Amino acid sequence: MPGKSQRSKPARLRAAPAAPSKGSQPVAGFVHVTRQVHFNSAHRLYNPAFSRRWNEKQYGLCTRPHGHGHNYVLEVTVSGRPDPATGYVIDLGELKAIVNRAVADPCDHRHLNEDVPFLRGLIPTTENLVVAFWGQLAPLIRQGRLHSVRLYETPRNFVEYFGPEPAL
Ligand code: NI
Repeated sequence: MPGKSQRSKPARLRAAPAAPSKGSQPVAGFVHVTRQVHFNSAHRLYNPAFSRRWNEKQYGLCTRPHGHGHNYVLEVTVSGRPDPATGYVIDLGELKAIVNRAVADPCDHRHLNEDVPFLRGLIPTTENLVVAFWGQLAPLIRQGRLHSVRLYETPRNFVEYFGPEPAL
């Protein structure tokens, strides 16, 4: 092409980093590690500040008085650079233990409106649940950082949360 130097290509190739020597770790960017857990819970969508009619209009069948159940699937993702010694961002066994202890065990086979202390006073929509779950999980993640919480209410309906917006 006119005006374009053919020499630029070999120069870029020479600048590429050398391949890692035997036994060393590759230089890694951020890696995302996910644990999936399941739990079964009942809930009712109902805002006590509004009338029954309003609630029925907003929530339809989901506001029926005694609630209904879901087979929830929760995916918790931690991001970070793999530790040079272990190759892990976070030990998945540890992530599993954290997610079970902080979220799945307290919610499993419970009524989310009544039985879970950290959800008290919350309308248990999937949106509100992911924010509450983030609050439970974030302080417990000490390797890497909590990247996202994804909650499937049904196989086709899910909500994701990436944490509070940074302060302006
Ligand atoms: Ni529901």
